[in-house]
Amino acid sequence: MKSLASDNFSGVHPDILQAVIDANVGHEFAYGYDRYTEKAVEMFRERLGDVDVFFVSTGTGANVLGLKAIMRSYDAVLCPETAHINTNECGAVESIVGCHIIAIPTKDGKISVDDIRRYLHLLGDEHHAQPKVISISQPTELGTLYTTKEIKSLSEFAHKHGMYLHMDGARISNAAATMGMSFKEFTTDAGVDVLSFGGTKNGMMMGEAVIFFDRALSRNFKYIRKQGTQLASKMRFISAQFIAFLKDDLYLKNAAHANKMAKMLAEGIKDIPRIKIVQEVQTNAVFAIVPSEYIPELQENYFFCVVDENISLVRWMCSFDTTEEDVKGFVSLLKGVVV
Ligand SMILES: Cc1ncc(COP(=O)(O)O)c(C=O)c1O
Repeated sequence: MKSLASDNFSGVHPDILQAVIDANVGHEFAYGYDRYTEKAVEMFRERLGDVDVFFVSTGTGANVLGLKAIMRSYDAVLCPETAHINTNECGAVESIVGCHIIAIPTKDGKISVDDIRRYLHLLGDEHHAQPKVISISQPTELGTLYTTKEIKSLSEFAHKHGMYLHMDGARISNAAATMGMSFKEFTTDAGVDVLSFGGTKNGMMMGEAVIFFDRALSRNFKYIRKQGTQLASKMRFISAQFIAFLKDDLYLKNAAHANKMAKMLAEGIKDIPRIKIVQEVQTNAVFAIVPSEYIPELQENYFFCVVDENISLVRWMCSFDTTEEDVKGFVSLLKGVVV
């Protein structure tokens, strides 16, 4: 099956799979007290500074537990309406953190200081959940990017008002590839407090990391992770994947390729009159409006998701293993079908 549905429809990068096989020797301490985990954490610290790093298995787990570490049940997290924590986590944040989500409508999946300012009057009023966290996704769920300046302005605003900045980085490598920056420049140096660092969508089999930039915030996280059912006993197999992912910049090669394929797709279809690309293609996703009558035939050949049936909005997502032939094939299918 050819698919442009999501980057997690892809398989596992061979170097990552090899790292899992190589780690499959002998016995190791369980629950993260193994040599692979020590090494992977050290590699994250080399890249991000003096951070605390906790591996988990899913992106939802990373978001929910990262937020749980910094929120109380009477707090609110402010995020774009399109945020994964708001739309696609089955209410896990509300259920497990117990907090309130304030979802802010946006055009491009990005929120600004001005959007947040409108909620400041809630602070100190016991009739309202208390704004405590601003959560952004980098890249956003619409494939767009915050600039470092925008991230800094959100973190400065958050800190000035006793709040934290959380970043959902399920596709953070795709952001780094387009920005041409180290992770540190747009996380540590931009004032992010807690980060969900993604691996699965960029060539890993499974594995995400919750990163705390202030160790005081992670003090109780080992209990939160265990109680939250995300402490893997055979942790070495997540850690070994992260070692291969970070080593020799594999994460960057994978992400840069996926981004390039999305650009190539956007370029190939830009002149098809009845297809309208509706978001700037900054990472590995193309969002477009396609007349609904053509969608079933297209999906038969390359499966993809319709994200809003009301406006016939679709998402085409490239991954590390999308080939130029895949893109060319899909472009020529579109040209033949959408008339
Ligand atoms: C932006 C974003 N955050 C978090 C997740 C959650 O990842 P998982 O499906 O591993 O729970 C996803 C998955 O699609 C995502 O797109």
